[in-house]
Amino acid sequence: MTAQSQLARSLRLGLFIAAVVGSVSGMFAWYQVRVERRIDMSDVTRRGEALAEQLMSPVETALAMPDPDAHAALWQRLGGYHRVIGYAVFRPDGRLIAANGAVVEFWERLLHAVHLAAKSDANAVEITRFKGNPLHLLAVPCEAGDQSVAGVLVVVQDVSFVEDRANARLIHYGFWVLMITLLTATLVGIANWLVYERPLQVLAHWMRRLRTENADEAPPPGLPSQLLRSETRRLAASLHAARVVNESRSGEVIRAEEAWGRDRLRAQALAALGESRQLVVVSNREPYMHQLEDGKVNVVVPAGGLVAGLDPVLQACGGVWIAHGSGEADRQASDAQGRLEVPPDDPRYTLKRIWLTREEEQGYYYGFSNEGLWPLCHLAHERPVFRATDWELYKKTNERFARAVLDEVKGGGGMVLVQDYQLALVPRLIKEARPDVRIGLFWHIPWPNSEVFRICPYGQSLLAGILGADLLGFHLQQYCNNFLDTVDRLIESRMDWDHFAVEFKGHVSQVQPFPISVQDWAERKVPQGDELAAQISELKSKYKLHNSYVAVGVDRIDYTKGLPERFRAVGRFLDKYPQFCGRFTFVELGAPSRTHIPRYRDLLAELEAIADEINWKFETDSWKPIHFVAAHHDVRTVHAFLSMAPMCIVSSLHDGMNLVAKEYVAAQSSCDGTLVLSEFAGAARELADALIVNPYDTEQFAEAIHQGVVMGEAERRERMQRMRQVVEERNIYRWAGDFITKLSATRGQESNNATAASGGA
Ligand code: G6P
Repeated sequence: MTAQSQLARSLRLGLFIAAVVGSVSGMFAWYQVRVERRIDMSDVTRRGEALAEQLMSPVETALAMPDPDAHAALWQRLGGYHRVIGYAVFRPDGRLIAANGAVVEFWERLLHAVHLAAKSDANAVEITRFKGNPLHLLAVPCEAGDQSVAGVLVVVQDVSFVEDRANARLIHYGFWVLMITLLTATLVGIANWLVYERPLQVLAHWMRRLRTENADEAPPPGLPSQLLRSETRRLAASLHAARVVNESRSGEVIRAEEAWGRDRLRAQALAALGESRQLVVVSNREPYMHQLEDGKVNVVVPAGGLVAGLDPVLQACGGVWIAHGSGEADRQASDAQGRLEVPPDDPRYTLKRIWLTREEEQGYYYGFSNEGLWPLCHLAHERPVFRATDWELYKKTNERFARAVLDEVKGGGGMVLVQDYQLALVPRLIKEARPDVRIGLFWHIPWPNSEVFRICPYGQSLLAGILGADLLGFHLQQYCNNFLDTVDRLIESRMDWDHFAVEFKGHVSQVQPFPISVQDWAERKVPQGDELAAQISELKSKYKLHNSYVAVGVDRIDYTKGLPERFRAVGRFLDKYPQFCGRFTFVELGAPSRTHIPRYRDLLAELEAIADEINWKFETDSWKPIHFVAAHHDVRTVHAFLSMAPMCIVSSLHDGMNLVAKEYVAAQSSCDGTLVLSEFAGAARELADALIVNPYDTEQFAEAIHQGVVMGEAERRERMQRMRQVVEERNIYRWAGDFITKLSATRGQESNNATAASGGA
């Protein structure tokens, strides 16, 4: 939009407002002139009445005489009064008895008032004109001795002065109305230009530069509303972040031949770690658990994205992973310090277990972490519970984890990767003791919007703990935005939206998205080729799947995963498309999780009931539609199902990323599978070729299952190929490499800030 058209718009607005102001004040002025004119006229009437009063006695005397005598008697009397135009005396029937001055020339015009006064025996007032002049006529009845009307005296006054005065006032008021109108038009036009048009024009230019010239400047000052200011800052920050991602992607294209794998990550990590060579990961969940089964110690890899994501990273880089030793045979399997080398069959890094009391586990893990923070961060309509006792144990246990980390980083420097919501206070605890250590925190679950987060009574302490980290990672840009917004609203800090950073208590934390991913199945110890085919055949026999189209789900049994919704959608699909009864089977590999929490126990029972109900409705002697296998499933079984199933269903109600979706894509080496994926899982942002569903919409969900089942081979392959490319390129090594590199770069940035600060002082 040109400056001229903006000016014209300001002018139009000014004129419009001025027209309104002008009309209203004009109407007031006109009304005022009328009122004052009425007052002048009543003055004239009063004066006329006074004059009539003075003349009344001689007139009444004269009227008692015959007309010629009366005329003679009145002629002289009337002549003496010269302040008015004149007088006239009439008989009640309209005969003129006497008149003086100019009245003689127009006495007929008085007759109407005379008749009125005679008839009503009351004063009558009329305005008439003679030779262009306005005349005020006051007709006053005169009484005879018997109280009858003997005649009418008319006082005629020139009232030109009243009109002159009214006209003068009209001009006076009109002048001021015009002045006010012009002033209003000018002021409104200027104010509009200064407050809105000009800042918006500057904003538009800035946006164009941002878009076309890759400019990296702060939004212009002086924007007219707080909301516009903050949204503009965010827009700039998002564009900046998107550019950074694009640039790093194009950098990736240049290095395309150098795909991300273990070796590249190891090299990157070594470079980032520098001389200290110390990498410490700390999480609540351990990557390997020792369990007792029939008196024998078994190694179990716990379900969940955190372990799936971090274990390959530690295997590639080496280092120490500190975690809660929660397996019943964990003490047995580790040394006196709780240490052991893992993976047990091919050691590559150290697992350091810390032991928690029952009370600590209850308050910190089940209570605060999983009854409080977990539902708080997931929008799955589960009410969070915050108990003061749980909070105390959460703080105490975080201190224990932090002490364990500090014991590991005894030398200089080092890098600590803190994992997830169970350890939000750990970054600050470490930073305060060891400012030289680089601390990254990766938040594996969503970050809610600030309105949701603020219901946590300990929110500010949590934020303070988190902001001890140098780098904070979330899966999605949206979670970064939510986090920064929460910090902005809840604690006193300095936001740098341009660089997605927060300064809190003199320490700067960078905030950035790092979408987590998976490793290639070929790298894992799972059967391939004939061995895999045999395993699949065994599983198909076990679950009677040989003649069925198999859809699979693999989840921890958690209310965020949308499992009831998934079962119901399967039931609805069979309702709508009964031709698939006997030919379609859904297998849910559900790992029981957090079962000390009633909500999780209840969910398990609820799922059993829903599966039973659907099976009861459709099953035959040789087929049942849903196999709900609630047990811990080893990686080999999961891989076999993900490889064999032509469909995988992920229906989270809210999920940070969901690695099962990516694991399925990675397992589809034949490129022939279909992924049905909830739009509320972070993975949906990257895997746009999945059949995206809203799990709350059973009809649409059932339709998507049908669409997947009947989809032509060519489309299926195309979609899967595109998704596999995404998962291959953005694998777990790249995720870790990006995170570690970025974390090591924060060192330079902070010293820059410090230099700038000291330079400024
Ligand atoms: C999610 C969380 C992890 C957690 C995992 C398994 O992925 O982000 O922190 O480890 O679930 O849950 P659990 O309670 O068994 O550790």
